Amino acid sequence: VQCCDEVEDAISRSDFPEGFLFGTSTSSYQIEGAPFEDGRGLSNWDVFSHTPGKIKNDENGDIADDHYHRYLEDIELMSSLGVNVYRFSISWTRILPRGIYGDINPNGIMFYNKIIDNLLLRGIEPFVTIHHHDLPQELEERYGGWISLLMQRDFVHFAEICFKSFGDRVKYWTTINEPALVANYAYMKGIYAPGHCSPPFGNCNTGNSDVEPLIVVHNMLLAHAKAVELYRKHFQAKQGGTIGIVAHSVMYEPLRDEECDRQAVNRALAFLIPWVLDPLVFGEYPAEMHSILGSQLPVFSLKEKSLLKGSIDFIGINHYGSLYVKDCSLSACSLEADHPITGFVEVTGIRDGVPIGDQTGFSWFYVVPRGMQKLVDYVKIRYHNIPMYITENGYCSPLKPDETMHDLLQDVKRIDYHKAYLAALLRAIRKGADVRGYMIWSLLDNFEWANGYEIRYGLYHVNRDTHERIPKLSVQWFSSFLNNTIRTN
Ligand code: BG6
Repeated sequence: VQCCDEVEDAISRSDFPEGFLFGTSTSSYQIEGAPFEDGRGLSNWDVFSHTPGKIKNDENGDIADDHYHRYLEDIELMSSLGVNVYRFSISWTRILPRGIYGDINPNGIMFYNKIIDNLLLRGIEPFVTIHHHDLPQELEERYGGWISLLMQRDFVHFAEICFKSFGDRVKYWTTINEPALVANYAYMKGIYAPGHCSPPFGNCNTGNSDVEPLIVVHNMLLAHAKAVELYRKHFQAKQGGTIGIVAHSVMYEPLRDEECDRQAVNRALAFLIPWVLDPLVFGEYPAEMHSILGSQLPVFSLKEKSLLKGSIDFIGINHYGSLYVKDCSLSACSLEADHPITGFVEVTGIRDGVPIGDQTGFSWFYVVPRGMQKLVDYVKIRYHNIPMYITENGYCSPLKPDETMHDLLQDVKRIDYHKAYLAALLRAIRKGADVRGYMIWSLLDNFEWANGYEIRYGLYHVNRDTHERIPKLSVQWFSSFLNNTIRTN
């Protein structure tokens, strides 16, 4: 068996290393609802989702899964599944309704205290993302959010409040979710808040997409490093926690069996994963980006480099699927691929009319389990086996027009997806990768950003009128996987 062939191993929880964390993942705006309750302030996503035409069917997160009122029920669901970790994010505007320009909202602190305490009571470790896309609209309006370097100061202020308020009980922190995806979706394509883009990346004329994505990631990385510096100086030793970041991580394969496409794969990866992780491990952007972007790439000062270098205890990996990559540096492809910010590559899910894997309900996610093993190997080698957590992995059910509730709940394909991805992950672990956890996206069907409620990753379906949680077949599978500790080897 060569590397990464998809062998259907029967896997069991006990095949994974002792203490391995298994759980589910969510984020605040996608599930909480209650946008104006108990003093929460207006967020960039409240504004964006209420802008006509931005979200599929003009939906928004005003109610979402009503988790704000049903968090106890959701924690019970997780407890009965048998998970030992839950990844969630803190809504910035519940804690600081006006960002740095106002007071702390004690109700927000109370809400997350209740979540954390109830998780711990049931033996579930809170795995907390400080910032997952939603930020105070006031910061957006005052200076354009992540475009401004003032966001570094404001994020550190927010993070410090989180460490002070919750750090006695939270042992797993990640600072920011997927900086590269925010740059791409929010500042190139304009499909995430605040919706900046310019041609050829989108049809709006706000922002200057040549530089904005680079500046946004630059500010996020420095905000991360400053928050970590503060955590390590004042909290970490006392609280005994660990801190990292979460990287959006697609795996790529060459479209053609040619050297130029293999090089293109390296560039595609560099412009996605090392863009974020190289500075945090080595203190500098990847060479691939330097050689293409030259002076367009923002520069770190010597002091910043030493602050960034080594500023992660672990890497959070969000991984769903793989794509093919075609080189566009030698011959022109599309307008987008001819732009240096893409690294002169074109990505596609199809080769000679054949998709790289089964198609899911999200057009860019194809089911390619071997990608999990390849990705983990790539991260392991490049970053000298820093501990990793799979912070998101999930299957988006294709939407069928005539779908019955029975079809929706019989999510056999989701079960097959997780089994195959877990088997691939296990192969990587057996080859020495230091992976310590796996979290399914998502506990519940939820507000999937630009796609509204139309695409669904949940183990539980949520009735949009009553908000009742209805278990899919995958709940049965996950709980029996989690409760079965018989070794298969
Ligand atoms: C990740 C995000 O990018 O993917 C999640 O961290 C998101 O917040 C998930 O919901 C699924 O992505 P999408 O684009 O299908 O909503």
